[in-house]
Amino acid sequence: MPEQPAAGQDPLPTPGQVARPRDLASGHDPLPTPGQVVRPRDPTSRQDPPPPSPASGQAPPSPASIQDVASGLEQAGYLAAESTALVSFLAAKLGKPVLVEGPAGVGKTELARALARYLQRPLVRLQCYEGLDEAKAMYEWNYRKQLLRIQAEASGTGWQDVQEDIFGEAFLLQRPLLSAIASPEPVVLLIDEIDKTDQEFEAMLLELLSDFQISIPELGLMQAKTQPIVLLTSNNTRELTEALKRRCLYLWLDYPDLEHELRIVRLHSPDLDAKLAQKLVEVVHEVRELDLKKPPSIAESIDWARALILLGAREIDQATFRETISVIVKHRTDLDIVAARVGVKLEPGPTDARPAA
Ligand SMILES: Nc1ncnc2c1ncn2[C@@H]1O[C@H](COP(=O)(O)OP(=O)(O)OP(=O)(O)O)[C@@H](O)[C@H]1O
Ligand SMILES: [Mg+2]
Repeated sequence: MPEQPAAGQDPLPTPGQVARPRDLASGHDPLPTPGQVVRPRDPTSRQDPPPPSPASGQAPPSPASIQDVASGLEQAGYLAAESTALVSFLAAKLGKPVLVEGPAGVGKTELARALARYLQRPLVRLQCYEGLDEAKAMYEWNYRKQLLRIQAEASGTGWQDVQEDIFGEAFLLQRPLLSAIASPEPVVLLIDEIDKTDQEFEAMLLELLSDFQISIPELGLMQAKTQPIVLLTSNNTRELTEALKRRCLYLWLDYPDLEHELRIVRLHSPDLDAKLAQKLVEVVHEVRELDLKKPPSIAESIDWARALILLGAREIDQATFRETISVIVKHRTDLDIVAARVGVKLEPGPTDARPAA
């Protein structure tokens, strides 16, 4: 059953469906071939594409319930909290992008990777940074190839012919965003750390996020052949625009509760002794309570578990804690606070002087 587009929005291609651009000359709706481009008759008049229709070929795996998503992600190595499974399920079903926000190291990026593994889709990743522009994120014209073409055609061909030719798709270099929507198989598109870009870049994304299409002035409209699942992540270093948020489902990923984190640590380090794993998570949670510059995240808990296994630790006592504290705490001032507030409460190690009775 094809999903209905929300009111006021353009119909979107759903998984297993291909967007049909309107044939402007005939009024018919031909199926686009891979990489096909829709040329608007009048660039100033915006035409809504007609509803999507079923495509031939095999549909990608599609979860039937939130529980399906949770267990699928678990099999892919990601233990999703209830809200994470719910939003992921809605994203797959509604075809809406998801904005995932939260502190560093809580599994934002990994969620996209795990979704790609679970749904058996390729992952297309755009790592954002300050100054990222259209040419690096969407597409670029292959100037060298265009030049060679012009030179090869130098004699005998009219300028008009050459010009039309060199602005064809063969001369386009696809960057992550364009390759995600041009992909013949549905992908998971990860736009990682969107808060590192500026507002102009966000504005440039809006067309893609709401209509799954990219306008290329020389070519026209490139519509998604298959609908990607889009995840944007942000560490919340700046407020994102309302326009972007409005187009997305929202997921706030926080530090997990004790039990959840214990499961994650044990998933990543099954060789760690159960009692040691329990103690590790308790200590990390205690450290997180302190007022630190950078509290330890799940990533640090996992690293600490691995370090303890490598060092053959049997206990998390004061000596072990001193030796390994830099795995979980990464600021000079934080080290002092943690040593003074958490370290001292641990059992003394074999080499530590025991307090006088
Ligand atoms: N729910 C989870 N299940 C399994 N592993 C997890 C989970 N959450 C986090 N991890 C692990 O924690 C580590 C950090 O995750 P990730 O890199 O996705 O964090 P992040 O939120 O993207 O951090 P940053 O903001 O610094 O990019 C990874 O090794 C990931 O596998
Ligand atoms: Mg990340």
